[in-house]
Amino acid sequence: MQVVHTVSGLRQMLGQHHSVGFVPTMGFLHQGHASLIQQARAQHQTVVLSIFVNPTQFGPNEDFEKYPRNLEADIRIAEEAGADIIFAPSVREMYPEGFATNIDVQGAALPLEGEKRPGHFNGVATVVLKLLNIVGAEAAYFGEKDFQQVAVIRQLVRDFNHPTRIVSCPTVREPNGLAMSSRNSYFSPEQKQRADVIYRALMAARDAYQQGERRSEAILQAGRVVLEGEEALNLEYFTLVDAATLQHVEVIGDSDHRLLVAARLFNVRLIDNMGLV
Ligand code: PAF
Repeated sequence: MQVVHTVSGLRQMLGQHHSVGFVPTMGFLHQGHASLIQQARAQHQTVVLSIFVNPTQFGPNEDFEKYPRNLEADIRIAEEAGADIIFAPSVREMYPEGFATNIDVQGAALPLEGEKRPGHFNGVATVVLKLLNIVGAEAAYFGEKDFQQVAVIRQLVRDFNHPTRIVSCPTVREPNGLAMSSRNSYFSPEQKQRADVIYRALMAARDAYQQGERRSEAILQAGRVVLEGEEALNLEYFTLVDAATLQHVEVIGDSDHRLLVAARLFNVRLIDNMGLV
């Protein structure tokens, strides 16, 4: 496996590769990332993984500086999972002197995370479009844990006629149900154990649906009862949306629906989501 830090170096390397699968990440890889690499490996001749902690998607009071980084461990995990090339550019390489164009995403980017983290999805869309242009892959693989992010990226490639196909892959969870995330490293072992509350709440809401409840408020209430049992948790939102539009629904109909949650637990911000069936 090769590690490359420049756009020109990556392009040179990819010159002769035809079927490229791409996994964009911010590093500090875990089993969730490994599953994306494995999925790409099964479909393409060459698998490129990017590692770039993108400053433009962090708000002024967010964790850009302390976001966990460990290139050595990432190289090992990426290689084991089957990546061929790691693209790990510097901030200067991605945003050189004079960089002056930003994507302003609307639509799927506006509710929920868009309200809680103003500017976040503009930063995500800008860097993802740059990465997709640089890599020129057939397909790019994203984790479903960031459900709204996937919707925003699908909208981005549709709106800009980008030829890369977007593939979303199921969330990988810890044995207690906590969705894998690089930010889970902020928890102590005891806190991480208690972070199963998010998964339990999503399951309780889903169970209410599966027992026949169709009113969104009642479904959400079943989950809220679980969340309220954890005193270290500050809920930001817990909602039931149409999976395509991300708009809140009152009564479950025929279309695809999704439970979405964001909360701070011991001051670590977590997001998660689940389908109803
Ligand atoms: O999901 C992430 O890790 C990031 O938001 C992404 C897609 C790599 C863009 O920086």
